Parts: sequence; C-alpha cells; structure tokens
Amino acid sequence: MLTVTSAAEMTAISREARRSGRRVGFVPTMGALHQGHLSLVRAAHARSDVTVVSIFVNPKQFGPNEDFEKYPRNLEADAAMLAAEKMDYLFCPPVEEMYPDGACTWVEVEGISDRLDGRSRSGHFRGVTTVVAKLFNIVQPELAFFGQKDAAQAAIIRRMTADLNFDVEIVVCPIVREADGLAMSSRNVYLDPVQRKQATVLYRALMRMQLLADRGETDSARLAAGGREVMAEEPAVRLDYLEVVDPNTLEPVSTTQRGALVAVAAYVGVTRLIDNLVIPGKGIAGSRR
Ligand code: PAJ
Repeated sequence: MLTVTSAAEMTAISREARRSGRRVGFVPTMGALHQGHLSLVRAAHARSDVTVVSIFVNPKQFGPNEDFEKYPRNLEADAAMLAAEKMDYLFCPPVEEMYPDGACTWVEVEGISDRLDGRSRSGHFRGVTTVVAKLFNIVQPELAFFGQKDAAQAAIIRRMTADLNFDVEIVVCPIVREADGLAMSSRNVYLDPVQRKQATVLYRALMRMQLLADRGETDSARLAAGGREVMAEEPAVRLDYLEVVDPNTLEPVSTTQRGALVAVAAYVGVTRLIDNLVIPGKGIAGSRR
C-alpha cells in the first residue's frame, strides 16, 4: 500500500488507473478504524480494481465546542490495518493541503442538512459535503463507499452527488455492531465501562421500535413513544432526537411504512452517539427521488 499526502499526486494516480480501464473504489474516513470501516474497505475491495482509503480528520465538520482536538488519531495502526486488507492507496493529506490559505468555498445541500444531526450540529453537514466533494474531485472514484451508520450523511451525500452530477456511484453498507448491539464508532473509545453499558440503550430502543413495527404499528408518534420509553430506562443517557423520517429527505413521516428510517441520537456523558434502523421491506416511505 502506498501512502499519498499530496492531492495532485493522488489525482494523477487515479487518472492513470482510470485511463488503463481500472475501476477506482474509494472509502473516505476520519481514521481510528474499526470493523465498521473495514466492512466498507472489504466492499470496496470486492467491487473495484484499485482501492483508495482516505484518512482526514476534517476540521470543517466539527463545531467549536466539539471534539476535533481530542478525536482519536492513530495513523500507524490504521495504515497497518489497511495494508492487511490489501488496500492500494492511503490518502492522508495534512490540513493545509485540503484547506490552503484563502480557501473559502463551501458545498451545501440545503434543507436536508438542517435535519437530524444537522439540527443539533449546526454547520456539520456542510463541512462533510465540502470535504467529500473535494475528495471526490481529488480521488475521482467510480465507486464511493459509505456506512448506513451515518444514515443522514449518506442521504445528503447521495443528494449532493446527484445535484452536482458527480460521476460516482454511492454504495451504502450495513451497520456493523458490537456483540451487544452497540453500533461501532470511533467515538466509543470515549466511553468508560459504565457508560459503555448504558450506551446499548440506543440499540435497545431501536429494537423495541422494530418489534412494535413488526406487530403492525404504523403510527410514527406511537412508535417513537415506545422508543423513548426504552431510552428513559437509562436516565444518565440524554436523548437528542428519536425520529421516524423519510430516508431520502430526512423529513418526519407521520405514518411508518416499510423503508422508513428510524434515527436516534443521544449523549452518554459528553459523548454523542447515533444509531438507526430501516423498517424492513423494499418500499420507501414518503417521497422518493
Ligand atoms: P468516519 O466517522 O470515520 O466514518 C467513515 C465511514 O465509515 C462513514 O461512511 C461511516 O458511515 C462508516 N461507518 C462508521 N461506523 C460504521 C459502522 N459501525 N458500520 C458501518 N459503517 C460505519 O463519516 C465520516 O468519517 C466523515 O464524515 C467523512 C465521510 C469521512 C467526511 O469527513
């Protein structure tokens, strides 16, 4: 695996790969890799001829009171994991390479970026879409892999890709969980053993909602009430949102149909965790793109 830090060099490598007819598959990450990330890496490997993983802790998607400084960074361990997965390229640019002095352009997906996490993390998604647009231009992949773990992010990136005519297929991979159901996340390392146990309440709330939906409940408010009841079993965990939304627009839906997205976010101590579930079935709730 070759490590690349220059954007121009990354683009040259990618151009050459595409010129010779090879499919470039790309997995953007912020590092501190876990099995969730590796599931994307493996999916990329299976579907591409040349694989690129980026590790860049993007300052523009962190709010002033968020954890940019203390976000876990372990490039050496990450690189070893990616080499073991036979990735071809690791792109890890320094901040000045991505945002040289004078950079002032943002990519913003309006409306949808203010829902779910966007509501409590103002400006977060425009940081995400700005960096992902830049990474798409630099890496020029045919395929890009994202996790369902960040369902709102995936919806916003699908929208951006369509709206800006990026010639990239967005592949969204399932959530990878710990044995007790907790969704894997780089932020789980912040949890102490007591909090780590409390954190499973997000998954338990989703499972209750799944059960209610399986039993035929279609009223989103009643479904959400069932989820909130479970969340209340852990008073130390502070709920941010628990909503049933359309998976594409992220707008709340009053009736829960197959394909609806049930999304939850909560603070365990100071650590903000998110999780979600798609109501099983092929139908998509609400409007479709
Ligand atoms: P990061 O949090 O490092 O996540 C990188 C990718 O891994 C995202 O697509 C995320 O959804 C996926 N992922 C994380 N945990 C997962 C899990 N348990 N199961 C499946 N996939 C999982 O998301 C970002 O970085 C950044 O916002 C980024 C897109 C790189 C832009 O900076």
